Amino acid sequence: MVDFVNLCTFAPFFQYSIMSLNFITAQEAASFINHNDNIGFSGFTPAGAPKVIAQAIAEKSQAERQAGREFKVGVFTGASTGDSLDGVLARAEAVKFRTPYQSNPDLRSGINKGNIPYFDLHLSQLAQELRYGYYGKINTVIIEAAGVNEKGEILLTTGVGITPTAARMADKIIVELNSRHPSFINGLHDLYEPADPPHRREIPIYKPSDRIGQTLLKVDPSKIVGVVKTQLPDEVKAFSEPDETTKRIGDRVAGFLISEMRAGRIPASFLPLQSGVGNIANAVLGSLGASPEIPAFEMFTEVIQDSVIEMMQSGDVKFASGCSLTITSSALDSIYENWDFFKHRLVLRPQEISNSPELARRMGLITINTALEADLFGNVNSTHVLGTKMMNGIGGSGDFTRNSYLSIFTCPSTAKDGKISALVPMVSHTDHNEHSVKILITEQGVADLRGKSPMQKAQTIIENCAHPDYKQLLTDYLKQTNGGNTPHNLGNCFNMHREFLDSGDMRNTKW
Ligand code: COA
Repeated sequence: MVDFVNLCTFAPFFQYSIMSLNFITAQEAASFINHNDNIGFSGFTPAGAPKVIAQAIAEKSQAERQAGREFKVGVFTGASTGDSLDGVLARAEAVKFRTPYQSNPDLRSGINKGNIPYFDLHLSQLAQELRYGYYGKINTVIIEAAGVNEKGEILLTTGVGITPTAARMADKIIVELNSRHPSFINGLHDLYEPADPPHRREIPIYKPSDRIGQTLLKVDPSKIVGVVKTQLPDEVKAFSEPDETTKRIGDRVAGFLISEMRAGRIPASFLPLQSGVGNIANAVLGSLGASPEIPAFEMFTEVIQDSVIEMMQSGDVKFASGCSLTITSSALDSIYENWDFFKHRLVLRPQEISNSPELARRMGLITINTALEADLFGNVNSTHVLGTKMMNGIGGSGDFTRNSYLSIFTCPSTAKDGKISALVPMVSHTDHNEHSVKILITEQGVADLRGKSPMQKAQTIIENCAHPDYKQLLTDYLKQTNGGNTPHNLGNCFNMHREFLDSGDMRNTKW
């Protein structure tokens, strides 16, 4: 194998100083970017996203604007990135469009003010839709790397995202070579791009630990126009410790899965788990780990977070396949210090594979994702606050939910100190519909929606999941509906949302 230029292994850096790699500054990297370009960025929520070149692009955009010239770029990413990418570009008003999932407050604000065009996508679809030509050309891809060599082999870091496709399609490649990551992680990644229809075949993964692709990204070396050195850590925020509500949700999920095992509907050996990201997901994993009846399991998921690493060390998680290590710096240190232990237990894949509907269905994933709100009939809104304001995006929740063995949605029964009920007559925006959502769990209880008519679903959700402050209100709604298979009163079904907008408290709703 060819040695890597990596700042952690200084000797090979000089050994290969004759190489054609062009070490440049972030400002020089930005000089390759032109107004109206589309840029693909490596990384995923926000692991492995570039950290210094976007700042230089933002400065260039501001300088151009001051000189009376427009400068905006289209931004394709795996999912959310750090403030040093999405934040700086949004604040510089340098974003022509943005897709897919995002979570930066300044970017979100620009989107919701209508200043930044944003389109949301199932994360598994972006790479293939780029290849299909739906979104135009990628001029440049900017890739964070743990290593790069003159043959055009790139060792990625903690997130894969859309990088293989974006790198192949782009005219130019710029590498951020980050010395935070050692070159011995070669083998962490499994990079595979399916052929496009009509030539596509099955993706030959049958269990989470199967490997089918390359460990290194191979690109045309003549496309690498520059390499910028960095040493910055991923901008991953630590999760809060579970509070009373998230702990109760976690315990209810664990209790429900145990009852499914006892009923023989989940095999005693268990099934691979997909878990969303966030405080609730963290608490759910904690409860699963603490539960002696749930055997050690594998994960086939999108984001691998701190709790998964801890559960590997305690023996509760056997293997995790994901798209990113969205973990704190101390958890990453733990992996690098114990690489011999972790290298057999982790694999990172492109999001087209980590989130593949084909693989989710084949392996029979138990999927656990978070709702902002759900309605009485099992439709779920994960993205739009009060139907209009984008929160983050659908992420991988649709990829997994629709194709799962058993799909679970969790959320607290209320938000904003009880002024918002998460259970409403009709969701103000639909991301996951009644046909895909099987189980709904709040801190109040579990609604098993399988095999129930819409009216039976509504009764179960009110009884088991709604907060006591809202049970009567929701029951009264059902009494004044106009019949039909899915009973609704189309004149009143958004009264709770309207009431919150008017008085700031859904509890004041009148029918
Ligand atoms: N109406 C209005 N606001 C609501 C609400 C509702 N029904 N429910 C929650 N909120 C608010 C909360 O009060 C909170 O507001 P704040 O930021 O001002 O405190 C905010 O929405 C987020 O709630 P929080 O409890 O912090 O949520 P979270 O971290 O558990 O994330 C989602 C919840 C739904 C936003 C998040 O899981 C998500 O983006 N999901 C979609 C993508 C996904 O599922 N990805 C994983 C797939 S692999």
